[in-house]
Amino acid sequence: MPCYKNVYITTPIYYVNDIAHIGHAYTTIIADTLARYSRMSGLDTFFLTGTDEHGQKIEESAKTKGKSTQAYADEISATFKNLWNDFHISYDKFIRTTDQDHKTGVQKAFSVMYENGDIYKDVYKGHYCISCETFFPKTQLVDDEFCPECGKSTVIVEEESYFFKLSKYQDKLLEWYHNNPDCILPKSKRNEVIRFVEGGLDDLSITRTSFDWGVKLPENLNDPKHVMYVWLDALMNYVTALGYGTDEKNMHYWPAHVHLIGKDILRFHAIYWPAFLMSLGLPLPKHIAAHGWWTRDGEKMSKSKGNVVNPREVADAYGLDNFRYFLLREVPFGGDGDFSQKALIDRINSDLGNDLGNLLNRLTGMSEKYFEGNVNCTDVNKFYQAELDEMEASLEKLEPMLFEMQIHRYLEELWRPLSIANKAIDRYQPWTLMKEGKTEEVMALNGLVAVILAKVSTMLYPVMPETSVKIANVLCFKIDHASWNHLIKQKNLLSSFVLEKIPPLFPRIEEPLLAQTGSENKKSEAKAARKEEQKTTEQKNEGIALIGIDQFFQTSLKVGTVIEAEEVPKSSKLLLLQVDIGEENPRQVVAGIKEWYSAEDILGTQVCMVANLKPAKLMGLKSEGMLLAAKDSEGLSLIRPEKPKTAGTPIG
Ligand code: MSP
Repeated sequence: MPCYKNVYITTPIYYVNDIAHIGHAYTTIIADTLARYSRMSGLDTFFLTGTDEHGQKIEESAKTKGKSTQAYADEISATFKNLWNDFHISYDKFIRTTDQDHKTGVQKAFSVMYENGDIYKDVYKGHYCISCETFFPKTQLVDDEFCPECGKSTVIVEEESYFFKLSKYQDKLLEWYHNNPDCILPKSKRNEVIRFVEGGLDDLSITRTSFDWGVKLPENLNDPKHVMYVWLDALMNYVTALGYGTDEKNMHYWPAHVHLIGKDILRFHAIYWPAFLMSLGLPLPKHIAAHGWWTRDGEKMSKSKGNVVNPREVADAYGLDNFRYFLLREVPFGGDGDFSQKALIDRINSDLGNDLGNLLNRLTGMSEKYFEGNVNCTDVNKFYQAELDEMEASLEKLEPMLFEMQIHRYLEELWRPLSIANKAIDRYQPWTLMKEGKTEEVMALNGLVAVILAKVSTMLYPVMPETSVKIANVLCFKIDHASWNHLIKQKNLLSSFVLEKIPPLFPRIEEPLLAQTGSENKKSEAKAARKEEQKTTEQKNEGIALIGIDQFFQTSLKVGTVIEAEEVPKSSKLLLLQVDIGEENPRQVVAGIKEWYSAEDILGTQVCMVANLKPAKLMGLKSEGMLLAAKDSEGLSLIRPEKPKTAGTPIG
């Protein structure tokens, strides 16, 4: 947790030459998560996002579309703002570099740098990449011509230019990196930056005369043909948004706690930006955190391939919170990530459905069945102190992880209390305790599960706000600073309440919900070919199918706990079972075992089950699995784990 009162969090400002894709959504959702946590924990928070609207590239995009540059910028900027609004991104300000306040602030900064001798006029000759809005020294070009960043052809530009004395700041920058080991996150990226700066810094050309769409120089310089280099203009947004150079009322938020960026724009943020700030006499940001690159199904995204992930489509199909969870859980911050519908579906069905949704369901089921929905935490300490201690030990680790950008580890650790609760139910078996008349213990067990869900949903709120609020509603509390303080900081339990049943939060997803891309289709075709091959092998072996280990693993075998058992009326063979296999809802199984087991014998025991059979109907009842059993002349015997195992444990 930052040790100061004000927390300022920023995203990059996005170019208005295209609509938002998964990369933009990723940075913005991380920033939103930090901002939400920061506010919930009582810190005065300012969260900034916006659009970067100047430069030759945008001028050219507008021309191709036959629009005025301003109209074009207005249109695309609005698509970003609308998307963030629809995504409930909790920004405090949406800045546009075409805002008058911003332009005034940038001009003020230019004057300050000029007056303190950090800007001089000269002639620039060099290779310029229009697409990246960057000059590159010849030594960095590919084949002496192509941009090292995007691979496009560079143009030679020779023009009068103002320069910023970047070289003057080389030693001061190195000192900053050395004295602040966390200034660039992840730390491996800091080493890259240090190596680059140690290689020597050239002064930086910061104005252009070959196009017009940019911020003009301050009037007193009387040099109207120059506009400012887009990166000087763009980086300044982080302070002009707080009023730098105009109404400075929000400047107390400066310095930023973190600038969240993608790894491709690290150089601008970790070298140019701190040097500009040093020249302006402003403090430097606490952290610059660079995340990795997203690909789709293992391939780079591009419009021509038609595989760009549209965040709105994904959120509409799979749910916004689920998408947020996936993005933050799937990749370690700083690493590259791959988006595939399969990976997203796996996260939803497994982490969210089986671990979280199922636990809520178990709680509502148990408390309704035994206590008419009443939950009381009075005796939780008496019976389950060890579980409470284990849970608190996990929760304590969370906050630092978030502020160190270890968000995937934050979520991983947050799942530990869920597993503590799920295991406690399996271990203490409330149905057996009830049979033994230990009602108090069962009530306390429900209390334990409720407390765990309350604390987890509070800490999950920054990542999955809507879902967490739904869980909190079931548990009759409100997620805000007061409850964070009560449940997390003070480590208190919940008071008594009557819970309400809600529909399952994460209905199981069986098939991809969006049209498949070329490479997804290729994967499906390969799967079909494998099936065909398997058929032929079976034929060759004259009916005795030899299978490979991968085919064996296509059968999902799981340990289940029978939580309800009754006779099927009018049937001499069938029992109707509800089997918990660690999913959100128990599976209903119609089992032909009545000749050997009574409903009472099997209730509360563990079984082994085929979990991925197509559902079938027996005597009009849906059966969603098959129990493993061995039958010989002496009768039938169910196959069971030798020692108790958590419901849902895979067999294999
Ligand atoms: N306008 C500049 C930023 C100026 S900040 C003072 C810019 N804009 S951008 O729209 O091109 O990119 C914005 C962000 O999106 C960058 O952080 C970039 O790293 C990120 N991404 C672009 N493509 C991406 C992926 N495929 N994956 C992850 N992030 C990606 O740069």
